[in-house]
Formats: sequence, structure tokens, C-alpha cells
Amino acid sequence: MDTCKKGVAFTVPTVCAILLILLLPASGSGFETGTEAQAETETELRRQLLINYDRTARPAATTAVRFRITLKHFDMIEEEQALMVDSWIVNEWFDPRLVWVAKDHKNISKLAFPYNMIWKPDLDVYNSAKVGEPPSFSDTLLIVFNNGRVLFVPPMRLQFSCVMDLTYWPHDSHNCTLIIGSWVHDGFAIDPQIMDDKPEIDIPVLVTESGRNLTRGSWELVEANMTRDVQRYECCPEPYVTIRVSILVTRNAPAYAWTVKLPAVGLSILTFVLFLLPPCAGEKIIFGGLCLILDVLFLAYTSNVITHAPSHTPLIIELVCEQLLLVVGSVVVAAVSTRLARDPHTSGLPSCLKRPLICLSTCLCLNNYKSLVGLVSWEVSQAHQSYSRAAKTEEQLELGENGASHLYCGGGVDFTTTCGLDWLLLAAFIDRVSLIVFVIIFVGNMLAFKVVL
Ligand SMILES: *[C@@H]1O[C@H](CO)[C@@H](O)[C@H](O)[C@H]1NC(C)=O
Ligand SMILES: *[C@@H]1O[C@H](CO)[C@@H](O)[C@H](O)[C@H]1NC(C)=O
Ligand SMILES: *[C@@H]1O[C@H](CO)[C@@H](O)[C@H](O)[C@H]1NC(C)=O
Ligand SMILES: *[C@@H]1O[C@H](CO)[C@@H](O)[C@H](O)[C@H]1NC(C)=O
Repeated sequence: MDTCKKGVAFTVPTVCAILLILLLPASGSGFETGTEAQAETETELRRQLLINYDRTARPAATTAVRFRITLKHFDMIEEEQALMVDSWIVNEWFDPRLVWVAKDHKNISKLAFPYNMIWKPDLDVYNSAKVGEPPSFSDTLLIVFNNGRVLFVPPMRLQFSCVMDLTYWPHDSHNCTLIIGSWVHDGFAIDPQIMDDKPEIDIPVLVTESGRNLTRGSWELVEANMTRDVQRYECCPEPYVTIRVSILVTRNAPAYAWTVKLPAVGLSILTFVLFLLPPCAGEKIIFGGLCLILDVLFLAYTSNVITHAPSHTPLIIELVCEQLLLVVGSVVVAAVSTRLARDPHTSGLPSCLKRPLICLSTCLCLNNYKSLVGLVSWEVSQAHQSYSRAAKTEEQLELGENGASHLYCGGGVDFTTTCGLDWLLLAAFIDRVSLIVFVIIFVGNMLAFKVVL
């Protein structure tokens, strides 16, 4: 406009008109020039504010830094026993050196500063799981308001250690605490405070049509608290202040119900079936071996799925291992009872064993076997025993063996095998006792391990 006035004074008015026309469109699209002017003012203001500004000096003797945290995503890194959170950490403080009067600067009430141009609290994560890596407080701009308030909201991925107790896997929950504080300053220099005792949780959840909540990770955030913790040490009068964010997470992976819990129960039932098979059935050993292979495979699978926890054993692994031992035990018992029942026996049971055995077998519902033995009267049995002792021929031994096998197959009773019958009763007795023991262990197991099933 100045040139225009000069033009009026010195040159022809048309030139002034042309200049005006040329200038008009520029001033007409005032939005652009407005921001340009604003940017200039901002640059100027920023320059003025930073004259003699020492960004290493604290704004005040005690600078209060107020915190808020917004959790955007989290995941448990099980191999590293660490919790990873993506969060926005809002921290704000007052810097009296960065105060200006808005009116004098085209009403600019806030200014953005690069993160390395003004003072920033030296905050760090005390229990970081990635010590030594460059600070995760990323290079976002800081916003300074004309009253000196500085707002710094870096989006951060923090990874902090969280010791996991996998005992109740897959129903485990973990209380992880994130500790943030000034790395070198005590509470007299930098005083961290909390704006809110509950962190804001803004984790995206996809709700399907069927009402299911789908999340990115296999974890659910139960609750989170924020506390200000003041520690004083004997050595020094100054307090050390940290902000602690406790996050309680629980595993929410329904898939494990199908891939781990169901097979675990299924294998338990198979072990039960193993004990149900009749005594001295050769299939028992084959079936036991099969169960053993299944158990070993399943154990390998579960210990692969569950993170290695050397300090403790998850209950579900204990359950599978216990089952494995039971199967081994049952195969041994099956081998012994088969041996007892199928061996060629030349003598019956010693009577000191036989009498209590016959009494006990009634209590154990072994009447079928008992009646088999009972078919032969005591005297006949005794006579037979002395007879067989007197004439121990190969032929009779063979007969005895065949008779017992024959009997096991459900055939008729051969009187020549009464001594074999005694042993069959013993085998049945051992088998029944082991079944009862197994049922007790099975029920006990299911009760003891119901927390993980
Ligand atoms: C600044 O704001 C005040 C009040 O809102 C207004 O009166 C004034 O015109 C504004 N000044 C500029 C340069 O925009
Ligand atoms: C989680 O840990 C923090 C700090 O160790 C403790 O203050 C808080 O009470 C714990 N929360 C739960 C639910 O155990
Ligand atoms: C899904 O999330 C909503 C709100 O977070 C909750 O009320 C609901 O019970 C959840 N549904 C399931 C199936 O977990
Ligand atoms: C959060 O605070 C409440 C009440 O003080 C407490 O009951 C709960 O255990 C705390 N949770 C965590 C994860 O620390």
C-alpha cells in the first residue's frame, strides 16, 4: 500500500490502479497470507522466547510434572516375561520462561516446539525390558501455551518386565507395574504427580455380530491403577518420586479350552479305560503303551505351547505328567497281573494268602472270580494240589496254562486248573485294587486341578 501511495505521488494513477488490481487477488485470498503472517509471527515469537533460553536448566527449583496415560494396546511378551504397551503418555509442566502475552503476538496462544529445543523432564522407565535401547520417548513436538504450560504427549511403545506366574495357565493373570520417574533428579527437583488415578484405556475391540469381543492379543485388561510412590532412603533427606502404573491382565484365550484342556481330560479318561479292562488282558499292555505315546506327545505339545517357566511348573503340565506316571504304573500292574494269571502254576495260593483274598474279594465285587474258585471245594483243591505236586509232568503244566488262558477267554472251568484259578483271583484282586486307587487319584486330580480345567 505504501508503494501505491508513493505511486500516486510520483507516477500516473493508472499504474497505481494496475498495482492495486495485482495486489487485490493476493489480499483477497487472505487465508494464505494470514497463515504466512501467523507463521512469521510464530517464528519471531519462538526466536524471542528462545533468546537466552537454556534448555538444560530446569524451569523452576521444583518442577511439578503432571502425568496421565492412555493405553492404546498391550501385549504380553511371554518369552521375555515383559508387558508391551502402546500408550500416549501425557505429561505437562509449567515453564515460566515461555510466557507471552497473546494480544501482542496476533493472538497466538500456543506454539509448537521441536522436542530438543526446550527443557524436558528426564523421564525414563525404571523397569524397562529393553534397557540400553534409545529412549522410547519419541521426537514429537511439544506444545507451549502462552501461560507457560508445556504439554508433551509422546506416543510410546514401552516394554517393561513383568514376572509371570504360570501356575494356573491358561487361567493366569498378572499384575504388571510400570515405573516411570526422573532418572537423575530427586523429588525436590522434579516432582512427578498424577492427574488421574485411573489410566485411560482406549483399546480397540471388534464386536462381532454374534456379540463376541475380538481383540488383537490373547489378553484382557482387567483394571489399571496409577499411583505416586515416594521413597526415602536413609542416606539422603530428599524423596525419590516415581509414578507406578499397575496393570492387571488376564489371559483370555478360549482356544486353549479346545486345544489343551479337552485333550487333557480326554487322556485322563483313556487312562481310566485302561484300568477298566479285565485283568490279565494282553490288550491292556498294548493300550497302555498307546496311552503312554499319546501322553508323551501331548506333554511335548503343551510344554511347547506354555512358555518355559523354569522357576515353577504350570499345573496343567503337572496333570499330564501325573497321568503319564499313572499309565506307566498301570502297564506295570497289567504286566504283573497277566503274568500271575497266565503263568503255568503248579500250586495254588498259600492258604494264608488265599483266605483273606477270598474275604476281600467279596468286598471288591469280585464274586465272579471267587465263585470260580469256590466251584472247587477246599478239600478237592487240596487233593488236587497234592496230586499235581506228586505228578508234575510237562503235560499237566501245559494243561494248567492252557486252562487258565481258556478260562480268561470266558470258557468253561477245567478242574485241573484250580491252582491257576487262585492266581487268576489274585490277579483280579490286584487289578481291582489298582482300579480303586486309580479312581481315587483321578477324582483327586480333577478336584486338585479343577482351577486349570
Ligand atoms: C485478538 O482477540 C481479541 C479478542 O478475542 C480481538 O478483539 C482482537 O481483534 C484479536 N486480534 C487479532 C490481531 O486477531
Ligand atoms: C499390583 O502390584 C502393585 C505394586 O506392586 C500393588 O500396589 C497392587 O496392589 C497390586 N494389585 C493387585 C490387584 O494385586
Ligand atoms: C464385550 O465387551 C463389552 C464392553 O466392553 C462387555 O460389556 C461384554 O460383556 C463383552 N462381551 C463378551 C462376550 O465378553
Ligand atoms: C486398583 O485400585 C483398587 C482400589 O484401590 C484396588 O482394589 C485394585 O486391586 C487395584 N488394582 C491394581 C491392578 O493394582
